[in-house]
Amino acid sequence: MKIMESRSAGKMVVDSKEILNFGGCGYLGLCDHQKNLQAASDELLKVGAFGQIPRHYGYINQVYLDVEKEARLFFDSEDSLYFSGGYAFASIAFQALIDEYDIIFLDESSHYSVIDGAKVTGKKMVYFNYVDPIDLDSKMKMHLKQNQRPIIATDGMFPTYGNLAPVDKYYDIARKHGGWLLIDESHSFGIIGPNGRGVFDKYDLSFDNLIVGGSTAKGFGAYGGLAVGNSFVIRKMANTTAYKGAAYGMTAAARLTAENLKYIRLNPSVLIKARANISRLKQSLNRIGLSVDESDSPVVSFELESKDDMINLQNYLEKNGVFVMYSTYVGAGPNGVIRIASYPDHTEEDIQLLCRLIQKHLNGKI
Ligand SMILES: Cc1ncc(COP(=O)(O)O)c(C=O)c1O
Repeated sequence: MKIMESRSAGKMVVDSKEILNFGGCGYLGLCDHQKNLQAASDELLKVGAFGQIPRHYGYINQVYLDVEKEARLFFDSEDSLYFSGGYAFASIAFQALIDEYDIIFLDESSHYSVIDGAKVTGKKMVYFNYVDPIDLDSKMKMHLKQNQRPIIATDGMFPTYGNLAPVDKYYDIARKHGGWLLIDESHSFGIIGPNGRGVFDKYDLSFDNLIVGGSTAKGFGAYGGLAVGNSFVIRKMANTTAYKGAAYGMTAAARLTAENLKYIRLNPSVLIKARANISRLKQSLNRIGLSVDESDSPVVSFELESKDDMINLQNYLEKNGVFVMYSTYVGAGPNGVIRIASYPDHTEEDIQLLCRLIQKHLNGKI
């Protein structure tokens, strides 16, 4: 294990050495925001680590109300719920809507937390092909009986390849059958869509028959889980055992989430700067012959011929002071992938250095 000794934005200190960071998920570079970190630390000193009395007993710390208010403002949603982590989102949402659907249709590469959350319901689960609305439609025709309602579940942006789900198509299919769409926006929160709200924002979906949520420990640069939508579903979520049976997040994490949400909402330049670097990085990678897509996604992944080739590339970059991930996370094939993430605080020189090193190492192979 290498020890990260600093916050991990575009640069970090690992084992006492400064290294350029193109790994991880802090897509807006907010983990380094001093004022907001101070507010989080102040909150911890003021009220302690967590709300000692759960809210269903009628007591709450102001910070949890604040983070939910900031979420409503950021997402322009009727209601919102903050909890301890993004992994809990799908479990809470599936449980909340249990009387509203009969069969769960899941993208086969959905995040572990979405699949685990579905399993706990005991309802029938049907997997459809990765990002394939045509397969979803035909699986629905095959499995859904008259008067049965579906819930469709997917990641918004997939963590390993950074590609986006065609949620506009899924939404139409869900509504056609009187069902629901659940989107885990953990990786799309903050960075995708005109307001950075996620893929549902990119496709301008309304909150009717939709539940959106995920982790605040990625683009939002904090920690915790968040769900947003109409009060009907959010209130049901707050009544589930999966929500009520756990501490609802650390006070410092809730304050940091609240402050970061507010900061992004009031400073659209954060997203503009992040996007400029995403496009700079992708253009530069294309110039060295890697042929990557030029979407808004902050993640670029590619495979080399073998696992060893990818691990060698990662080691070579690391020796030269640049970190990229060799990833075998959800969605990666058997050999894994090289995964590169863009941060707004990368300079043009940082990006050029990464590309030069990749080109040099792969000389003639791309
Ligand atoms: C798609 C997705 N959903 C959920 C989670 C879990 O979020 P958290 O770490 O906040 O529990 C992750 C975490 O990596 C994720 O990638």
